[in-house]
Amino acid sequence: MAVEQTLSIIKPDATARNITGKIINLFEEGGLRVVAQKRLRLSKEQAEGFYAVHKERPFYNDLVSFMMSGPVVVQVLEGENAILRNREIMGNTNPDEADPGTIRKLFAENIERNSVHGSDAPETAATEIAFFFDPSEIVG
Ligand code: CMP
Repeated sequence: MAVEQTLSIIKPDATARNITGKIINLFEEGGLRVVAQKRLRLSKEQAEGFYAVHKERPFYNDLVSFMMSGPVVVQVLEGENAILRNREIMGNTNPDEADPGTIRKLFAENIERNSVHGSDAPETAATEIAFFFDPSEIVG
């Protein structure tokens, strides 16, 4: 296994409930390390650009509005097999199908307001990390 980095977003439904620390604790207990982090409010351009891959989906406009509706915390998580590990810690996109103990089972409100985003593959991780972070901001 290789040490990887992945992009994580703690979404507005979670910042609104002041549970960012609880979520970060699950990443850390799951073996991942926060090597970059910032809290920001996404612009329309950022939200649309980040989720451009979903542009044709029926939920796209709602998703963009939701992601702009409050602060987010964007992070780079690092660890062995971090991309897959993060997806295990987050659980299924749909909280109804997520395993017990996962972030989405514990905290997600529904399939859209699902508390966290994580990159799904090495190429997406690289693109998504570069979307938010300059290399100088990532400190392992
Ligand atoms: P995320 O992992 O950030 O990737 C795309 C996001 O779109 C997803 O989490 C959800 O927030 C949202 N999403 C995915 N599928 C649906 C759906 N069927 N209905 C509403 N929102 C969805």
